[in-house]
Amino acid sequence: MSDQKIESQNLAGIYKIQMTDADFNRLSIFINRELGIKMPKEKKIMLQSRLQKRLNEFSFNTFREYIDYVFSNAGKQTELLKMIDLVTTNKTDFFREPVHFEFLYEKVIPEILNNINSRQPVKIWSAGCSSGEEPYTIAIVLSEFIENVQYFDYSIFGTDLSFRILDKALNAIYTDDRIANIPMSIKKKYFLKSKDNQNKTVRVIPELRSKLSLQRLNFMDYSYDVPGDYDIIFCRNVLIYFDRDTQEKVINRLCYKLKNNGYFFLGHSESITGLNVPLKQVKPTIFKKISYE
Ligand SMILES: C[S@@+](CC[C@H](N)C(=O)[O-])C[C@H]1O[C@@H](n2cnc3c(N)ncnc32)[C@H](O)[C@@H]1O
Repeated sequence: MSDQKIESQNLAGIYKIQMTDADFNRLSIFINRELGIKMPKEKKIMLQSRLQKRLNEFSFNTFREYIDYVFSNAGKQTELLKMIDLVTTNKTDFFREPVHFEFLYEKVIPEILNNINSRQPVKIWSAGCSSGEEPYTIAIVLSEFIENVQYFDYSIFGTDLSFRILDKALNAIYTDDRIANIPMSIKKKYFLKSKDNQNKTVRVIPELRSKLSLQRLNFMDYSYDVPGDYDIIFCRNVLIYFDRDTQEKVINRLCYKLKNNGYFFLGHSESITGLNVPLKQVKPTIFKKISYE
């Protein structure tokens, strides 16, 4: 056994390779600098267990060998993206933080329709969209508005760092427990059940899928190569993983793509307190863009 290979036995009797402090430092510096995600020492065990199966897959005996491979020319093309997929936290839900969707229906959409030429589609960006539950929830809310109140056209743009998760969003197939808490009338209208009885999945209907376009975007990019003039941006439960400096930079870059008076939604445990960003609060975690002077 090499001196770097330190093993411990877990309860199942399977040998787990331990990540040394030096391995952790190499990874945490990279993850923080390139992805914006904070990686304090307390995250070492989490990182070790998330990456363990990749070591097994390659039969590497140490994390050092794995990390060398990830940062090699060959690894950068393939394994680096897999590592990024494993490092990100993609937790999401349909109708997560429902107050936001009530506000969207009751206040935001009527106000936008009052102010814009109705032939112009309303443009929404779900930034950090994960596997699609957030943008499809927005699409459901807008469809309900169209059916019950007034017709308008809209488009939703979803971006995320992880290719794997964007693929899920594109396929729009979910296990049926993911929609267990949605009212039956909404399930029937917007989800198709798999015909295969063994396979308890649902798929978002094509009419909603066609409203969503997807692109990979890393918030750490210096500028965002995406269209501008959004009426609404959702950026929820992403910035919580970043330090305050990075949060300020990312919000400013996002706001650059938002129309003046456009709406900006953050996650419920996120705030802009102390950040120099062109937003004014209209409700907790809901903001409007003020013009840059
Ligand atoms: C916890 S999920 C939030 C999903 C959804 N917005 C919600 O609130 O349910 C956070 C998402 O942010 C993405 N993310 C993390 N770091 C990122 C970065 N540097 N650039 C773009 N997306 C990132 C992750 O891949 C993940 O899918």
